[in-house]
Amino acid sequence: MKYKVTPTQKERLLRDNDFIVSKTDTKGIITYCNRIFIDYSGYSEEELLGTQHNIIRHPDMPRAVFKLLWDTIAEKKEIFAYVKNMSKDGGFYWVFANITASMDQSEKILGYHSVRRKPKTAAVKICEGIYKEMCSIEQRVGAKDGMKASTDYLLGVLAKERISYEKFVLSI
Ligand SMILES: Cc1cc2nc3c(=O)[nH]c(=O)nc-3n(C[C@H](O)[C@H](O)[C@H](O)COP(=O)(O)O)c2cc1C
Repeated sequence: MKYKVTPTQKERLLRDNDFIVSKTDTKGIITYCNRIFIDYSGYSEEELLGTQHNIIRHPDMPRAVFKLLWDTIAEKKEIFAYVKNMSKDGGFYWVFANITASMDQSEKILGYHSVRRKPKTAAVKICEGIYKEMCSIEQRVGAKDGMKASTDYLLGVLAKERISYEKFVLSI
């Protein structure tokens, strides 16, 4: 089910000991979420289970970040990312997310697992600026080439700092 949610400026701040957990199948359909996930999302457990994880996607998030996320976890590598999520009431909450693949004994991917914690305020500010530019590139360039153009922008930022995405996201 798709909900029509209008973003608002209401921000929710995670507390130090909040760990927001969810699990998905291989397609990103939510199969498990903890109480804190439910609380921040504003949806009920019934609304969340069986639903695509993009139910909490915020329009301020660049598409290229999610492509990087999916490309990385599909290769069975873990990814860390700062993500702005949207609650059912349109409010938002920034998280520092870690996402990994869950595998069986033969290393076949069974699904994915994510733990999110309170992000550093300074890191959120940095990502906010980068994501804003990426979203505006995606809008300007359009659906077909926008993702590549905004990925190139991100790679350019990293190249200027002479740092990999992985090191960057852990260092800010
Ligand atoms: C384990 C896991 C956790 C995810 N967590 C989030 C999340 O917290 N917020 C989010 O917007 N997308 C999350 N995603 C990515 C979504 O599946 C989706 O790719 C993203 O919201 C972009 O949606 P769209 O492709 O419909 O634009 C997660 C994916 C996986 C596999």
